[in-house]
Amino acid sequence: MTTATQEKNWAHVDLTKVPNMRVPAPGPKSKALHARCTKYFKGLSGQVKLFPVSFESGSGCVLRDVDGNEYIDFSSGIYVTTLGHCHPKVSEAIAKYANQLMNAHDFTTEIKTRLCEKLADVLPGDLNGFQFYDAGTAAVEAGMRVLRAATGKNELISCFYDFHGKTYGAVSLAEIRSPVYGRVRAPGMHMVPRPNPYRPMWSKTDGTIDTDKYLEFYDEYINRATVNDVAGFVLEPIQGWGGSVIPPDDFFPKLRKFCDERKILLMADEVLTSWARTGKFLCMEHWGVLPDVVSIGKGFGNGFPVTCVAVRDQFKESFEKISASSSYGGNPMACAAALASTEVIEEENLLERSTHLGELAMKRMEKMKAEHKIVGDVRAKGCLMGIELVKDKKTKEPLNKAGEMVYQKAFAKGLAWIPAGHILRMSPPVIMEDDVLMKGLDMIDEAIGETEKELGY
Ligand SMILES: Cc1ncc(COP(=O)(O)O)c(C=O)c1O
Repeated sequence: MTTATQEKNWAHVDLTKVPNMRVPAPGPKSKALHARCTKYFKGLSGQVKLFPVSFESGSGCVLRDVDGNEYIDFSSGIYVTTLGHCHPKVSEAIAKYANQLMNAHDFTTEIKTRLCEKLADVLPGDLNGFQFYDAGTAAVEAGMRVLRAATGKNELISCFYDFHGKTYGAVSLAEIRSPVYGRVRAPGMHMVPRPNPYRPMWSKTDGTIDTDKYLEFYDEYINRATVNDVAGFVLEPIQGWGGSVIPPDDFFPKLRKFCDERKILLMADEVLTSWARTGKFLCMEHWGVLPDVVSIGKGFGNGFPVTCVAVRDQFKESFEKISASSSYGGNPMACAAALASTEVIEEENLLERSTHLGELAMKRMEKMKAEHKIVGDVRAKGCLMGIELVKDKKTKEPLNKAGEMVYQKAFAKGLAWIPAGHILRMSPPVIMEDDVLMKGLDMIDEAIGETEKELGY
């Protein structure tokens, strides 16, 4: 049994040894393995295409590639390994059930029962009904089916720049222009703008964002563009793929009221923002808003593919109507991973830690914004962070080229992280020590400076 102290030591990073770039990355072994693999494995993300390194192992906040280079992790996989790579308690829990019982369809098991009890305990309000899945997109689809079953209505509304997954229902609530996503939105799916404080569509005379105008538009939109059969809104609390965009504090409380007045349900897609990522179990807790339905994923199992749909008491029975079970949903290994992850967050006070790291990062990034011409905006909520790069701070025109350059330069220095066009997205594990976070941000700062020089700023 690993003790809490051992776990703490396990999370320690010796900054005199890491990052450690033994050979320029991607090194020869990385390149050779990548070439062998990609002969067959197709459809890589932009992250890999821009820096095709091959990883071998990870421990806590450190990743090691096949050439022996060691990186500070600023991506947690892709917002997944929130407690660091291979957290001993989570790994032991998975291993136990890998040797005891791997799948029992949706029959009751003790580990699933304990997970449900724990979730009812840590989640706010009466979010007491659960079903489990193996991917975020599957949880989002199930959540949408609950919205329809609970209301008997069909239409759903999401927002510009939201992302909800890659199955057809989920892509129909996002940008669908790309041929990859089918080009044709599923019937009854709508999208409306949502407030982005850095790029307001409607602002007040003092320049601050005017949330009320967005809600007025939703009212008009529902009257004019729907068939008045709206089951629910489906929104990310903070947009991840859209660039760590944090809404103004009054948005979700107002949206909740708007939905209640019209008997429309509110689903929070917390696949990316939940389980300590922003400093709470649910990001919506920051605004004291209780959604009717929530999708939870990524950090939920700290790397084991397990996701969840949680619903309020009054909607529990809707799970009966939607034929909710699946092949892998709620399998014992998955439940063990999710239960262990939840317990680790509590035992190691990781909600507080995530909040603290976000505050530290914000101070450091504000300095970058003051010092760099191309840093237009910086934002953080816990360990969900973003830096927006622009050609000019006045026009706010996006500077995509710089995004790629900064990403590659910082990666080459030993920072494993996530690019997204002109918005640099950071998602470090929440167990990270303060000095490691600062080191990672220093590396980004340096990379931005080098990029500015090369681009002639
Ligand atoms: C908010 C949100 N919802 C859903 C998904 C889909 O999750 P998955 O990739 O596990 O299917 C993602 C993935 O990035 C996400 O960020």
